[in-house]
Amino acid sequence: MQQNSRRQFVKQLVSSSLVLSAGSWLASIGYAQTSRRVARVAINQARIRSQLDRRLLGAFLEHLGRAVYTGVYEPGSPLADKNGYRRDVVAAVQELGVSIMRYPGGNFVSGYHWQDGVGPKAQRPTVLERAWNSLETNQFGTNEFLEWCKLVHTEPLLGFNLGTASTEEAVAYVEYCNYAKGTKWSELRRSHGYDQPHKVQYWCMGNEMDGPWQMGRLTAREYGRKARDVARQIRVFDPGTKLIACGSSNTILPTYLEWDREVLEECYDQVDGISLHNYYGNTPALTGGDSARYLAMNLDMERQIHEIAAVCDYVQGLQKSPKRLWLSFDEWNVWYRARDPKARDGQGKFAPHLLEEVYNLEDALLVGGFLNTLLRQSDRVRVGCLAQIVNVIAPLVTNETSVLRQSIYFPYAWALKFAHGNVLDLQVEGDTYPIKAEGLRADFARNDQVPYLDVAATLNPPDGRVSVFILNRDLAAERELVLDWRDPVPLRVLFCETLTGPDLKAFNTFEQPRQVAPRTLEAPAAGASMTFKLPPRSYTVVHLATQ
Ligand code: AHR
Repeated sequence: MQQNSRRQFVKQLVSSSLVLSAGSWLASIGYAQTSRRVARVAINQARIRSQLDRRLLGAFLEHLGRAVYTGVYEPGSPLADKNGYRRDVVAAVQELGVSIMRYPGGNFVSGYHWQDGVGPKAQRPTVLERAWNSLETNQFGTNEFLEWCKLVHTEPLLGFNLGTASTEEAVAYVEYCNYAKGTKWSELRRSHGYDQPHKVQYWCMGNEMDGPWQMGRLTAREYGRKARDVARQIRVFDPGTKLIACGSSNTILPTYLEWDREVLEECYDQVDGISLHNYYGNTPALTGGDSARYLAMNLDMERQIHEIAAVCDYVQGLQKSPKRLWLSFDEWNVWYRARDPKARDGQGKFAPHLLEEVYNLEDALLVGGFLNTLLRQSDRVRVGCLAQIVNVIAPLVTNETSVLRQSIYFPYAWALKFAHGNVLDLQVEGDTYPIKAEGLRADFARNDQVPYLDVAATLNPPDGRVSVFILNRDLAAERELVLDWRDPVPLRVLFCETLTGPDLKAFNTFEQPRQVAPRTLEAPAAGASMTFKLPPRSYTVVHLATQ
């Protein structure tokens, strides 16, 4: 330990023992101990939960509303480049550094014929898209998406239609993208100007096939068999693809978990991962409108991950398989305001305003919580996609002249910027608060005590940088977090910012784009014990150098 940090450590020790003895004296004379609202966590690089696969921090672009058209692609706009891509959106997504991007849906994919979206643009059909009742011109398709991925430096996660399309069409899509040359579908790609295969590695096998809303919905057994058949055919020519089967679309369908078990009983040996989806909201039905309950919803996500993992392991056991499936949480976000039938019906129009959720401060704090949960569960969840990226339930929103960063942009940007290397296994000791179960759906009522502070951390061995992500769920009071550094001890605080504010319902607009925005948080000196003062209602990131 360095001289300075040792001195600080001793000082800290003395002052905390004084607080303790004063506390016990007060207790002995009948006073309740006055809480300093302190939590502690030890940081030790030897305690590793996982090596982070950055695919955990992906996003999602669906042909829905204004996500593709006027979001990513707007030929004719002064903001578009020569290929029609919005330059401001390209810059914003580049700045985020999104690791993987799911495309083209979502519910859209279950009625999508990929061949409509490839080849000469003038010959592509305009079709009525039935998931969102919108006009689809197909001017943006697979090759435009893959070009855009290169531009924004992200990996594609493509989905194929297992709803209204045949297995043959799905397999042909993979052949079109990934087969080198000399076959019907690979030569079609080459005739479209793509001589080399795209080598797309990660694939979603349909979307939410358990949902009554899904085009071509199947029973679990039917879907499991169809998925198995497609996977077997794909593996004949592309054994290295990572195939993700559709798991339950949420936790409230009556088939939750049963669906996953039956699907996996049919196709476990042929797939690599299974999907999870969920959307959350501060609604009377889900939280009773209680923001303290709302900010604990990342723990519901955590439980869903455990439950689906348990089903995977159960089927693995049944089938005596050596393979352990990973999870793909490829749709998650807050979504509850722009959800009524009007917000979901495109009325046969092109690029209609759909699912245009406006995010406030409390949504951003919860999104921080979701990211903490995903990091904590990254030993099991390999892929994750914030749904979505632009205009539709999104951190980015465009108008004709610019792009706005909504509140949820900030925690997501921090995770992408600062979460690298190993996710650390943390034991946080601190106060909890009760959450009310009355009036809530059973789904959200099982945890009855919630920690005020939710903490996740990564340590990147090559450069020794540590990042700590802290959600303070206390709506009224500042809370302290003591970081006890076992190994290594930090030398410098490189970055310390927080997202907070007096009004949980504040949000950004094009006129007032910084209503909810990060501000610098005063950090303690780097050393063996560091106490951070976390504002009420806040999400904070600290980035430190240890070499
Ligand atoms: O992301 C919006 C929609 O939510 C997706 O299309 C669907 O998969 C989910 O129900």
